Amino acid sequence: MTTTGAQRTNWPERLREISQYVNLTEEDRKLIRSTGPIVRRYADQLTTEVYDLIFEFPNAGRFFSYDDGTPDPKRVKDNKDSMMQWLNYLAQAPSNDAFARYMIAISAMHRDIPIHRPGLPPVPSQFVIGTISWYQTRLIQIFEDELGDLRKAAEASTAWNKMLMVSLDILLGAYLLDSR
Ligand code: HEM
Repeated sequence: MTTTGAQRTNWPERLREISQYVNLTEEDRKLIRSTGPIVRRYADQLTTEVYDLIFEFPNAGRFFSYDDGTPDPKRVKDNKDSMMQWLNYLAQAPSNDAFARYMIAISAMHRDIPIHRPGLPPVPSQFVIGTISWYQTRLIQIFEDELGDLRKAAEASTAWNKMLMVSLDILLGAYLLDSR
């Protein structure tokens, strides 16, 4: 068996590197934690909106559907729950090694769709990237409404954008052949 770049990568180290590169500072982490309760309050609504979006695109919706193309409510519920857990985790602005391992495990799950789901390819990366973009768009709107101050909303949104990008880097990690 050959070893891919993704398998060779030291993901905790990469997490530190990308966090420094985007300049995710201690101030940003504080801001993420202090606005975490707002994001948690909207987590259910946001995740429902993500799944509505996913079902507008057959190539995305098929991962949560029966063979005849109709949505599978159990699969949708289970995956919504895991997406909310991820958002909750992000609200803690984690920087520990366990976070890197958690993210790369999700990435591998997206790439290696289980054997009992024949015919499904890896989750196309554009939907993962698009989902992150969608969260960025929604969060600034939510911060504007909730914080009632454009400057504070922009600061919170900047910090969350960095966190979401750091998360995205590792979320796509298993797809990369040479991830060093
Ligand atoms: C920000 C983007 C996303 C995040 C954070 C995310 C998060 C997760 C998490 C935490 C799991 C693990 C579930 C478990 O432990 O069982 C998972 C699995 C999975 N995700 Fe995602 N996901 C994202 C986007 C997507 C998109 C856009 C799709 C499809 C269009 C998708 C399809 C799947 C599939 C098929 C699984 C495997 C589990 C199953 O077959 O039900 N994900 N995702």
